[in-house]
Amino acid sequence: MKTNQFISQNELDEQKRIALALSKEIEPRGLTFFVETFGCQMNVRDSETIKGWLCEIGYTEAEDKESADFILFNTCCVRDHAEKRLMGNIGALKELKDARPSTIIGVCGCMMQQEGVAKKLLKRFPHVSLVFGTNVLHRFPSMLQTVLNGERIAVTDRADDAIAEGLPKMRDNLRSAFVNIMYGCDNYCSYCIVPYVRGRERSRRPEDVKREIVSLVSSGISEITLLGQNVNSYGNDGSTGMHFADLLRYVSDVPGLRRIRFMSSHPKDLNDDVIRAIAEIPNVCHHVHLPVQSGNNEILKRMNRRYTREHYLSIVQRLREAVPDIEFTTDIIVGFPGETEEAFNDTMSLVKEVGFAAAFTFAYSPRQGTVAARMEDQISEPVKKQRLSALNTLQAEKTVENNEKYIGHVGEVLVEGCDCRGEATMLYGKYPNFKMVYFPGDPILLNRYVTVKVTKTNKNSLLGEMIHA
Ligand code: 5AD
Ligand code: SF4
Repeated sequence: MKTNQFISQNELDEQKRIALALSKEIEPRGLTFFVETFGCQMNVRDSETIKGWLCEIGYTEAEDKESADFILFNTCCVRDHAEKRLMGNIGALKELKDARPSTIIGVCGCMMQQEGVAKKLLKRFPHVSLVFGTNVLHRFPSMLQTVLNGERIAVTDRADDAIAEGLPKMRDNLRSAFVNIMYGCDNYCSYCIVPYVRGRERSRRPEDVKREIVSLVSSGISEITLLGQNVNSYGNDGSTGMHFADLLRYVSDVPGLRRIRFMSSHPKDLNDDVIRAIAEIPNVCHHVHLPVQSGNNEILKRMNRRYTREHYLSIVQRLREAVPDIEFTTDIIVGFPGETEEAFNDTMSLVKEVGFAAAFTFAYSPRQGTVAARMEDQISEPVKKQRLSALNTLQAEKTVENNEKYIGHVGEVLVEGCDCRGEATMLYGKYPNFKMVYFPGDPILLNRYVTVKVTKTNKNSLLGEMIHA
């Protein structure tokens, strides 16, 4: 059985001491921070930890970048355009730094974990003084202390080893929270940079996950999303004594926990035990985000996804049999190297066949160091664009079709927000299966559960009326 490494309590206590000492200087000066997050839920969750540290260090959150004393970009490198956007954003901060030299500018996250990027960034942007990767969040106070002392640093230890428990966090959302159950990824899909930047897969201890959920629920949160690059391989290395279906059962009995979501699922590891767990556990939501990536077996093989189209469709079918109101969302890449017109049509036909509630679609973007970036038969940008557009048109039609079956549907909605721009205030929120509905109501109902009946559909959204508050 494998065992995971953990950051020691001593090391954490030392960081807390540094945070406290810094707060004695920072707090009286009324300094503020602004953290901007790019990318996926993992980064959103990491930013909560960094903001938690900043609060312990005595900063408060600024309204905008321009007024902040500490500005941090938490970066993503999964696709190319994020990188270009980031470079533009950092460049734009130079003026701000010139006008107010005491401003500290930092950059962190996945992109900094890429070979050579952190050092290059420090060199290219003299106004940036702190750069760090995804694996050193537990050392944030000491890193910031060094920078406050006038040094410029880049800290990017390999994202390989220890798990840090008990770090602070600042959450904006009072209704719903992300909870990591694992870090890293071992799958090495041939297009994907994540395993290189986030390191090998390691699972948190079930009791730590549950403790975090208990604490969240006691603070009023009733919906949690269990996060991992591939939640279905939770505990597969034997380090936790539990697999994902067991973990779902183990955390589901926390009193007051009304909704359990999870993402992402990898089709190769979603087994019958998980299907049973979704069907049987009352507070597990009937929604699976199941990235398919392609509907063509040859491309799936070249992507190193380790399942076939037929296997994917059989999971969908088995889940629909066990959980009739289940909805699927997915991720799809078009224009992967070697994708012929025929292969692309297989993706289109799979999208028709499954009827996803929603699809996140991407044009393939070569990532340096990955196997697919070295493949010879790269697809031209115009072809990728044209395929992406055809796929999006198809999915938009499927979304409308999917919505139509909801007319008359009655169910419980957790109110997430309100749109007050029109004549009537419209609230919105999701049914357990992730379908979003808009309905007139009082903003006082924000973060509450109400019963909503769908009365009509409007292109890609459902409209309804509240029948019970
Ligand atoms: N190019 C395009 N899309 C990608 N994704 C991951 N890597 C790439 C890439 N190199 C997409 C996948 C994944 C989602 C998070 O991002 O669809 O599921
Ligand atoms: Fe990337 Fe594949 Fe891991 Fe997802 S499962 S993070 S796509 S390597």
